[in-house]
Formats: sequence, structure tokens, C-alpha cells
Amino acid sequence: MLKKTAIAHPNIALVKYWGKRDERLNLPAVGSISITLADLWTETTVAYEEGRTADTLILNGAPARAEQTRRVSGFLDLVRDLTGTSRFAHVESRNNFPTGAGLASSASAFASLALAATRAPGLKLTSDRLSELARRGSGSAARSIFGGFVEMKMGTQPDGSDAVAMPLAEADFWDLTWLIIITTEQEKSTGSTDGMRQSEQTSPYYQQWIDTSPGDLDDMRTAILQRDFTRMGEIMEHSCLKMHALTLSSRPPLLYWNETTVAIMHAIQHLRREGVPVYYTIDAGPQVKALCPPEYADQITAKLEPLTGVKRIIRTKPGPPARIVGDTE
Ligand code: PMV
Repeated sequence: MLKKTAIAHPNIALVKYWGKRDERLNLPAVGSISITLADLWTETTVAYEEGRTADTLILNGAPARAEQTRRVSGFLDLVRDLTGTSRFAHVESRNNFPTGAGLASSASAFASLALAATRAPGLKLTSDRLSELARRGSGSAARSIFGGFVEMKMGTQPDGSDAVAMPLAEADFWDLTWLIIITTEQEKSTGSTDGMRQSEQTSPYYQQWIDTSPGDLDDMRTAILQRDFTRMGEIMEHSCLKMHALTLSSRPPLLYWNETTVAIMHAIQHLRREGVPVYYTIDAGPQVKALCPPEYADQITAKLEPLTGVKRIIRTKPGPPARIVGDTE
């Protein structure tokens, strides 16, 4: 049997990606910069079995919904094209964090799937090509191939061969703490592909978003390489709020926040006024991700935990790249 297991970690974008220049190839309209997380992971096993008549997917211990299986099966078709295999696969994937609630589960899911699905039949792609493949599953998955601080290039090639991620700095380059503040464990209502299309087609700010992206990427790259926390935090919040200005100004509007999301944003601003270095970012869901130097994490947690609607806070830091587990390659 051709079988492999891979682990990949979700990532949080400091400079956001929102909008596609090609939906079929999943080519981003802007570049992005992220940090891969240490303590959250998706573990995916792919087994190509002879005699199977369709792909099957078990997600977090239960059979996946039809559309989830279709998405994975479509992705496996790309791998079958690359490897020349015609066998169908049984896929089992599990997360140690809530799925589909704006915690980038698709990033770690497709990064681990890309790695396990190519290695199972013995195909060893370069990290560029693996990142390109993962991108076909989910834009942010291209970044989860790498650990630490990662930049995703929007690329210019029509075939997407240069729309790949690359490492900027290793996980241990800068000791930072993420506080992931969970405000609901429910799945979000509008997925990012539909949300992006809505913003591209209807937000009056979409072109400005595209035009201002290179400057944000340059500033963030510099902030990281100089370990300038204030500069990093300011650009991160700005990029996040700009992305949400797009979703809010779409028709119909997309409001990904709940009451608790907003209460946390205020609390973080308040902490900063008191001299605590902490900044937030929010993706296509209601959770808030706060970034701080490790020595402030207890104080920030103590302030945010009692807020009404805060379910729990996951503490983590920059983490490792996607990798095969269970054998000694
Ligand atoms: O990976 P996708 O295609 O679901 O897009 C994710 C987009 C955001 O998480 C909202 C921003 C980002 O850059 O991660």
C-alpha cells in the first residue's frame, strides 16, 4: 500500500491575502507574510489503495461532508496527474483545534495533504513545487509548507509557477507569543473564496487594496528582519483592518466579527495605551489573534480571559515546517 502521514501547522498572516487573480489556479491578487504556528497542527494520512472506486475522507474521526470530500478529491486529481497514479485514496485528517472558524485549518489541511499525497507514491517535490501544489488547495496553505516567518509571492506567471511561498526567517529567529482568542467554536458562514469574489466584484476599495499591498509587504519584511515589534504590530493591524474594510464594503457586506471580537479589539487598544506592547489581527472569522513579546503574555491573558464571550485562549509561538511523520526519511 502507498501510504504516508504528514503534519503541517496553520499560519497567521501579518500582511493579509484577500482576492485572487485566477480562481481556478488559486493565484493570489496580492502577496502576504505570515508566521507558522507551533502548537496547532493538522495530521493527514493518505493511503492509495488498489481496487478503491472513489476517494474517501475522514475528518476529525467522522466521514466528511460531500463538498469537503469533493474538494479533497479534486486536489488528489492534481497529484494523480503529477504522479501518473490512477489509484483512489483513503484520507484521514485531524486537527487539534476548531475547524473552519477562521483559524486557518485549510492552510494546515492542504499543506499536510500535499505532502502526504505526493510522498505516498514516492514523489519528492522541491519545497517550491510543494508550495505551488498546496496553493491549489488553499491560498494560505502555500505558506504552511514552511516554518517561522514566511512570504507568499503573488507571482506574475499565468501558470502560477512563481506564486509560491518562501521562508523569510526561521521560527527561532524571534521569540514572539501568539494568543489566539477563541470567541466561538462554530464554523464560519461565508468561506474565503466566496468572500474574496464578493469583495473583488463589489467593494469600491478593492483597487486601493491591491495598490497599497506592495508597500505593506516591504515594511513588514523590514520590520521582521530588524525585529522591530512596534512597526510589525502597526502594519499587521493596518493590513487586517484594511482587509475587513473590504469585506464590510462588499455587497452584500461580510461582517466576520462578533461582539466579543470587537470587545477584544478595544481591550487590546486599551492595553497599548497602558504601555503593553500587543497588537491584533483577525481573519475570515470571529477569533482574534494577538501578538506580543513573551514576557507580556500573562498580563494580556489576565485582561482578556474575563471578557464576556471569550471561550478560551490558546498560547503559541512561531513553529516548524510541514513534515512527514512516522518514518525515518
Ligand atoms: O487560504 P484561503 O484561500 O482560505 O485564504 C485565507 C485568507 C485569510 O486567512 C483571510 C488571509 C490570509 O492571508 O491568511
